[in-house]
Amino acid sequence: MPCVEAAADAVADDDGNRNRFSMTTSPAPPYQPGNVQGLILRGYTHPHSCHLMFSFTGRRGAAGFVRALLPYVQSAEAWSDKPERMLNIGLTFNGILTFEPAFGRQFPPEFEAGPWSEDSQQSLYDTGASDPARWWNSQDKQAIHCIVHVYGMTQDALDGLVALVSQAAANNGLREILPLRPESGQSGRLQQYAPLENFIHFGYRDGIDNPDLGWPADPSTTDPGDANNFLIGYPGSAFGPGPDVGQAGEFAKDGCYCAFRVLYQDVGAFDQFLANTAPEVVAAIGGSEDHAREWLAAKLVGRWRNGSPLALSPDAPDPATAGATDFRYEPDDRPGLRCPYSAHTRVANPRDQAVYASDAPVPRLIRRGVPYGAPPAPPNYEGERGLVGLFLCGALAGQFELLYGWINTNNFSAVFSPGLNTQDALLANRGAPGIDPSFTIAITKEKKIRIPKLPQFIVTRGTAYCLLPSLKTLRRVAGLSA
Ligand code: HEM
Repeated sequence: MPCVEAAADAVADDDGNRNRFSMTTSPAPPYQPGNVQGLILRGYTHPHSCHLMFSFTGRRGAAGFVRALLPYVQSAEAWSDKPERMLNIGLTFNGILTFEPAFGRQFPPEFEAGPWSEDSQQSLYDTGASDPARWWNSQDKQAIHCIVHVYGMTQDALDGLVALVSQAAANNGLREILPLRPESGQSGRLQQYAPLENFIHFGYRDGIDNPDLGWPADPSTTDPGDANNFLIGYPGSAFGPGPDVGQAGEFAKDGCYCAFRVLYQDVGAFDQFLANTAPEVVAAIGGSEDHAREWLAAKLVGRWRNGSPLALSPDAPDPATAGATDFRYEPDDRPGLRCPYSAHTRVANPRDQAVYASDAPVPRLIRRGVPYGAPPAPPNYEGERGLVGLFLCGALAGQFELLYGWINTNNFSAVFSPGLNTQDALLANRGAPGIDPSFTIAITKEKKIRIPKLPQFIVTRGTAYCLLPSLKTLRRVAGLSA
């Protein structure tokens, strides 16, 4: 297959939907899709997945484990028949050290130190119930060496491959780390909740917008959504990925970092907030309380629950715009009358809204998250549920952590009053000193609704930084010739 065609397939989701990138606009990329793990370049649409975490107990066992899984590792090569079951593998820095003990100080410091480190926490700001001291079941953050992402077209296909992975782990002396607490009433494993399909808890459609992953004709003018900002080892990244040289560079080439972040969603707090605030909205804009709840939910995210962006459909959700990705904030929504400045999607991707020069260009992330846990049956909101977040990037500090910093403190653009320190309306960790937990929704230039204190909707259950290595590197760590 010619390279150009392979590149176009790589950015299509696996039902064949193309993103904006087209075969005619990008030169043939230099990478081989067969050497890149599929999760990076393809939006899988398998309805079932399970995300398993392991601790290695020695190099030999670790190699045996990867060797046993290799036949199921899905690359980014185009497939003719969609695989019934497949998997991808991530290694933390401690996992890499199991294979390559001399690699210390050759990877970026945030990857080596882990997301609980003081530097990373300046952006992630996991406090209170989200505190790293409370992450994961084992409480041993350093023990996570490997995360296996298993996908199936049916529950049976998934279960079969998960059983095979568990057996390979047992045969090779690995210890499984169960990320969810036993009292959650689940197996402790992170299983995708399939019935939600394209939707996530809180009722929003997700997975609409992702970087185009084209290839820059001229790397000196790379677009932040180009694949060289995600795949390690190519020139021109705007965010400083690495390592690019030496043995570590060879190990990392064609890989991509994955910030694996498990986020509990407090649906009770969310529903309560919508219900409590609806009367104020009705007083300001009229209509019913049902409409007010939907309107508020849209203002928190910047899209209606069906996916329609407020920038295009300010007054009501519209099926015609539900999957829209091509829209701007300038000049029509410069005052934020359609989409509030602190709405989640406007913070996570301000698009053409001006950001301070020190924050430019706006970083992009590849999102491959899925929901876990069954929805609640109100008024009973007990139970564990949320998002298994996979945030892929070529530079954890320059992309993932920079964006997280913006989420926790809206200080990246002059649209925010300097020093006010408001936050992402949906996502931020509240309660930091100096943070303003209020949320302002502008209705006209003069009329605003100001909510003085947004609740905490999200709790971090844990975070691990992984490298999704190339297939060549996986063969190498498995002890096979690359
Ligand atoms: C439980 C937590 C989260 C929820 C409920 C959530 C919800 C959503 C929703 C509903 C959308 C709109 C759908 C779409 O554009 O595909 C979205 C988009 C997005 N989210 Fe999140 N999200 C969560 C966590 C995160 C985190 C942790 C990050 C970044 C570190 C993030 C970054 C983004 C980005 C970059 C977009 C696309 C914005 C755009 O391009 O317009 N999200 N999210």
